[in-house]
Amino acid sequence: MQSPQTTHSFLSGRVIALQGDITAQAVDAVVNAANWTLMGGGGVDGAIHRNGGPSILEACQEIRQTRFPDGLPTGDAVLTTAGNLPARFVIHTVGPIKGRHGEQDAAYLAACYHNSLKLAAENSLESIAFPAISTGVYGYPREEAAAVSSKAIASFLASDDQIKEVRLVFFSASDLRVFLHHQQFPSKQEGA
Ligand code: APR
Repeated sequence: MQSPQTTHSFLSGRVIALQGDITAQAVDAVVNAANWTLMGGGGVDGAIHRNGGPSILEACQEIRQTRFPDGLPTGDAVLTTAGNLPARFVIHTVGPIKGRHGEQDAAYLAACYHNSLKLAAENSLESIAFPAISTGVYGYPREEAAAVSSKAIASFLASDDQIKEVRLVFFSASDLRVFLHHQQFPSKQEGA
């Protein structure tokens, strides 16, 4: 008997944090923690391409040949089909590799969240799911990423009414616990 999935909500339920698999999220768009090549990799990138099928890579190749011949810059975001995934679209974004961008690591990570949300809103999408960008292979400390991502999401949603649901999907219970402890969403009374 699977234990009921506990979720944690913020911003009057507009944001929920949960433990799960990003590829299983039935939302308008799932966000991929990609690299500049857009040609796939491991972790989230590997799971999305593996479960989504070749149409995602084909769309990424098209983007590389037309709009980003030199690759997708860190912090930028592009949208493709989600192939066989339950989601409708994939938004690929490139997180910062911790320590590679001087004092700009946090700004680049915030840009991943901001630009992914902006792209979703521009495409009239209402629901989006994020993995913990850069906290795996790219070595961004989870507690620092929690503060950056929650502030960036809260800041975007404060001036947007298109996005109705943001899911923050953590692969492990430990990752979810660290996020819940270090997130900086406005508390109810502040964000009333
Ligand atoms: N669902 C949700 N979260 C996942 C999943 C999944 N299926 N698989 C991994 N994660 C978690 C990791 O445990 C980590 O917490 O997502 C977070 C991001 O980890 P990575 O996928 O390693 O992404 P990132 O740190 O941004 O590194 C990107 O890794 O896979 C390559 O091609 C990718 O070069 C790029 C780099």
